[in-house]
Amino acid sequence: MPEVSRKPGAVLPPADCSPTHIVPPLTNKYLSYDEERAPKVRAMFSRLAWRYDLVNDVMSFGLHRLWKRQAVEIALAGLDRPRVLDLCCGSGDLCFLASGMGAASVIGADFTLPMLAVARRRKLSGEGRCSLTQADALRLPFADGSFDAITISYGLRNVADLPRAVSEMRRVLAPGGRCVVLDFGKPEGTVPGFLYRGFLRTMMPAVGWLFHGDPETYLYIPESLERFPAQRGVERLMREAGFERVRHEDRLLGTMGINVGEALGRTAI
Ligand SMILES: C[S@@+](CC[C@H](N)C(=O)[O-])C[C@H]1O[C@@H](n2cnc3c(N)ncnc32)[C@H](O)[C@@H]1O
Repeated sequence: MPEVSRKPGAVLPPADCSPTHIVPPLTNKYLSYDEERAPKVRAMFSRLAWRYDLVNDVMSFGLHRLWKRQAVEIALAGLDRPRVLDLCCGSGDLCFLASGMGAASVIGADFTLPMLAVARRRKLSGEGRCSLTQADALRLPFADGSFDAITISYGLRNVADLPRAVSEMRRVLAPGGRCVVLDFGKPEGTVPGFLYRGFLRTMMPAVGWLFHGDPETYLYIPESLERFPAQRGVERLMREAGFERVRHEDRLLGTMGINVGEALGRTAI
């Protein structure tokens, strides 16, 4: 994605795929758009890993469970015993869902060890079968076409190079496979967008302060969303990376987005 000016008061260009709006100053210690991006993201998730699952339930009123289930159902629909990769797997929610939905194998990959440690604990307590591995979404250690289904939930917004992450997903997707991205979305229209950003910028620092004594941990969500192109921009990136039958579905008035892209099967090429 081309970098855009992030100076206070700058106006985001239409490429952002959201209504044009003024960008607030970038002050979050966990967010920068340079070579420090990945270490900062890893530091933040290392800090909040131990309460990550609890906070998700609280701040989404449990709804994240429904959206994640729907994302995995879409990813696996019609595939016979697929090999599944869950990228940016965090504490493993989607891995465990996929393992309960007939996947032949599930690999969860993430670059933050404390998040993987939570996933491992959950796996050992019997939540599901999967392999867990430390890997960077920008340099996947898998051969081309290794997976029939790839999921990534609330992960793509955090990577330092969006087009590269999307083309890595396309590279490791097998012919006939499907990739599903779940993340925060951007509702269409200036007023809903304004209200939504206001809600996130009020609620998230409170959540961060309450659970981690650090408002910036969860204020990171609305701040990282400013430059994330969300459902319509991810759709464009998926097309550019060579995905077929690209589409998106909104959830909760577009505040969440599910993007879907496929790799045509051998017979269809
Ligand atoms: C918000 S959590 C999402 C976890 C899980 N998918 C879920 O939905 O609950 C984002 C995860 O992305 C991981 N992550 C961010 N950038 C990454 C990258 N470049 N490679 C691998 N993992 C990354 C973080 O370590 C973190 O665990």
